[in-house]
Amino acid sequence: MAAGHSVLLCFFLFFFAIQIAAKNQKQALDALYKAKFFRNSNAADASGFFVRNEVADQITDVLPTVEIHDQTGLKQQDKIERLPGQPPRVELSQYGGYVTVNKTAGRAFYYYFVESPQNKTSLPLLLWLNGGPGCSSLAYGAMGELGPFRARSDGKTLFQNNLSWAQVANVLFLESPAGVGFSYSNTTSDYQSNGDKNTAIDNYAFLANWLERFPEYRDRDFYISGESYAGHYVPQLANVILSHNKNAGKTIVNLKGIIIGNAVINDETDQIGMYDFFATHALIADGTAKDMKKYCNFSPNTTTQNLKCIKTMKIVEGNTKMIDIYNIYYPICGNKSLTDQPKKATVMKYDPCTDYYTHAYLNRAEVQRAMHANVTKLAYRWMSCSNVINNWSDSASTVIPLLQEFMDSGLRVWIFSGDVDGRVPITSTKYSIASMKLPVKNSWYPWFVQHEVGGYAEEYEGGLTLATVRGAGHEVPSFQPIRALALITHFLKGTPLSTFSS
Ligand SMILES: *[C@@H]1O[C@H](CO)[C@@H](O)[C@H](O)[C@H]1NC(C)=O
Ligand SMILES: *[C@@H]1O[C@H](CO)[C@@H](O)[C@H](O)[C@H]1NC(C)=O
Ligand SMILES: *[C@@H]1O[C@H](CO)[C@@H](O)[C@H](O)[C@H]1NC(C)=O
Ligand SMILES: *[C@@H]1O[C@H](CO)[C@@H](O)[C@H](O)[C@H]1NC(C)=O
Ligand SMILES: *[C@@H]1O[C@H](CO)[C@@H](O)[C@H](O)[C@H]1NC(C)=O
Ligand SMILES: *[C@@H]1O[C@H](CO)[C@@H](O)[C@H](O)[C@H]1NC(C)=O
Ligand SMILES: *[C@@H]1O[C@H](CO)[C@@H](O)[C@H](O)[C@H]1NC(C)=O
Ligand SMILES: *[C@@H]1O[C@H](CO)[C@@H](O)[C@H](O)[C@H]1NC(C)=O
Repeated sequence: MAAGHSVLLCFFLFFFAIQIAAKNQKQALDALYKAKFFRNSNAADASGFFVRNEVADQITDVLPTVEIHDQTGLKQQDKIERLPGQPPRVELSQYGGYVTVNKTAGRAFYYYFVESPQNKTSLPLLLWLNGGPGCSSLAYGAMGELGPFRARSDGKTLFQNNLSWAQVANVLFLESPAGVGFSYSNTTSDYQSNGDKNTAIDNYAFLANWLERFPEYRDRDFYISGESYAGHYVPQLANVILSHNKNAGKTIVNLKGIIIGNAVINDETDQIGMYDFFATHALIADGTAKDMKKYCNFSPNTTTQNLKCIKTMKIVEGNTKMIDIYNIYYPICGNKSLTDQPKKATVMKYDPCTDYYTHAYLNRAEVQRAMHANVTKLAYRWMSCSNVINNWSDSASTVIPLLQEFMDSGLRVWIFSGDVDGRVPITSTKYSIASMKLPVKNSWYPWFVQHEVGGYAEEYEGGLTLATVRGAGHEVPSFQPIRALALITHFLKGTPLSTFSS
């Protein structure tokens, strides 16, 4: 037992050292997975996420009343005239600012909102959330995936993303929870009590107040989207919305559907699917995947793992650590330095160093001023994934009961998957959906965009659609912007993906 413990301890120090050295979306989720996997190890408390097991946390037991604050005049104040370095001749209506989610604690969330340059009054409102936990929707969603601009390699100027989801929706990016990006709490102990439930409650408080600030969107069709660990945030927020609507006996938030990509939804199948993906994509030996399943216990109630499991996991780690497991065939960033002259850039070409450009750009004082961000002069720099959150006190082991509930309530539920992501890969998503035992309505078929197969889809009775995006990694719109835009367009319109090449 004692020997077992010291091995565990080394294991943790090894992994969490990585997590602290370079925190990005990738390491954040990795750290959480490991913290959950070795939940009851004493080594888990000091340096990594600490996780309490919660099975299908439904949040309906306590539904706190939401404080609605006076929002008069705040929308006008939040209007962003132009972002520094924004390309000329791009006219966009954009807003950024803070919404207080808890006055007593002094918690406020930062949002960035882009109205569609198309007919904005007829288009829906789409919220986008990134995962982590602890990662910023500005860093990834807005500036790396589906927003209208991306930072250039000089860290000062922007180029346009003409395949932004703002072509088809009014898109709201939220940095959540407190401690992520520009979102903060004046009660800094809040950073150590973050978890799924608190995040859902604060996200709801944000939304209710934001709709008060932008009343023209109150009755608009509303959809929630996100990726990765937002596979928790999106359904959990949707659940709180439905509960509030039900409690009030009326529609407070006009939620129509959710869409989540490469999403963490069911720990057990998410993990098993990962090892199967590694083996079938020639990253680990078949025998190693077999050993993982033989020696490790992936059941959500497991509290310890044996030595053989840990040893096998190290083999996996050794085989996969030199590639970017979040997009197994794409390059890694070779040179993190900014350049004096911005490199030629287009959204059609994935740049693995984008994170570094975004980091430089969003830490510029003039950018923060223009965006109405960091108004309280936070004591730390803006980070794409939080350095101040290092305790995640509750994380459901599954959100599948919530998905089931949404289908019963008639919400549109889509799950998409970039098929070259190895972290929450298509195999995991397939196994998770299979565990729901839904009858298949339309069996696995190719869908098309611009004369090519964009991916494959399967539809299930009850209103669930699974769609893969061919050649996309974890952050789907970064890798396949045309396919991603086609996907979100069909989702929002409620029309099936195209089944013929045209
Ligand atoms: C505000 O946050 C604090 C924790 O910082 C919590 O105790 C309190 O219940 C929250 N208030 C509301 C209305 O959610
Ligand atoms: C946090 O504290 C600062 C400084 O006192 C204050 O300006 C700000 O309004 C507070 N934030 C919230 C959400 O109450
Ligand atoms: C924009 O949408 C609104 C609401 O659907 C509609 O009334 C209006 O005619 C549309 N305008 C244009 C230019 O399409
Ligand atoms: C977006 O820009 C790319 C390259 O600049 C171009 O090939 C493509 O046709 C444009 N797409 C749209 C929808 O404007
Ligand atoms: C993490 O949060 C949980 C729940 O709020 C708390 O019990 C625990 O003490 C916290 N751990 C640390 C290291 O702050
Ligand atoms: C895990 O434990 C919970 C609560 O004790 C129980 O309801 C659930 O069935 C268990 N799950 C598994 C897979 O054993
Ligand atoms: C990285 O890029 C910078 C800026 O272009 C350049 O000065 C530096 O020499 C490069 N470093 C390497 C190792 O290529
Ligand atoms: C906020 O502003 C302060 C003072 O300018 C700066 O030192 C800090 O890095 C900024 N923090 C964030 C999160 O942007």
